[in-house]
Amino acid sequence: MPMMDEHLSRKHRGAIRRGPGRLNLNPEDLAAIWQRQETEGKGLIGGDPARRPFWRHPKPPEPAPWYRHGLASPEHRQRLHRFLTTAPLEIEIGAGDGRFILAWAQRHPQRHFFAFEVRWKYTHRIYERSQRLGLHNLWVSDNDARVVIPEVVPEESVAVFHILMPDPWWKPKHQAKRLIAPWFVDVLARKLQPGGILRVETDVEGYPEFVRQVVEAHPAFAAHDPALGERFAAAPLSTRQIWCREHGVPVYRLFFRKRGDQERA
Ligand SMILES: C[S@@+](CC[C@H](N)C(=O)[O-])C[C@H]1O[C@@H](n2cnc3c(N)ncnc32)[C@H](O)[C@@H]1O
Repeated sequence: MPMMDEHLSRKHRGAIRRGPGRLNLNPEDLAAIWQRQETEGKGLIGGDPARRPFWRHPKPPEPAPWYRHGLASPEHRQRLHRFLTTAPLEIEIGAGDGRFILAWAQRHPQRHFFAFEVRWKYTHRIYERSQRLGLHNLWVSDNDARVVIPEVVPEESVAVFHILMPDPWWKPKHQAKRLIAPWFVDVLARKLQPGGILRVETDVEGYPEFVRQVVEAHPAFAAHDPALGERFAAAPLSTRQIWCREHGVPVYRLFFRKRGDQERA
């Protein structure tokens, strides 16, 4: 049973919009963007994690299960490492208000979850709700996942990456913020355990083809396999997915398995 009422509040209804519907997939533009992302860190959201203004983003109170890169003490980093390595691990990137991850973590008490959401207000909300629910299996981070995952997540430790309804970043000047890029897919491949799953869901026309192109070009990933989705067929919906359902907008679901052991995820 989903933990929360699946109907959207009026506030959310108004907040979710569809974009202009023209996704720039020009290979030359993308190649230039990806190179700058990889070599210059271009497009990272939130800037230097250690320099986020405290008056807007109060420092996470240790030992709370909230990680901010560059500020965490060595003990806290150690705490996170222990959490990441002592149970099957699932990571959500771009958790929004946490509707999916909170319900999913509640449903799977034997697994550990790590949720990334750069918007501090949302991260705070996820943290508070998880405390209220008494969840012991969820950590959050308000950093750009692209900063933290390469540094703190051990290699071959992740059973599932969830990327639900990633921002398409329509405008040319924002495209460097796009999550799906060859260098980051390579990071995901290294962090997934053999047989682990990358799950990407989107309502943006053209995005599924783009994701398939990038992920399937990586030798570690097998081609999208819809059968892998069975495991998530009854998964709780995210806020945007509920909005799509209420507005009759189709959601495309993609599942990629990392080659290797078929059973472990
Ligand atoms: C379109 S919203 C979808 C939110 C939620 N998954 C849903 O389906 O309702 C995408 C979210 O990803 C977050 N985000 C985008 N890039 C991110 C990154 N690199 N690291 C962490 N969060 C990110 C944004 O702040 C935003 O809240």
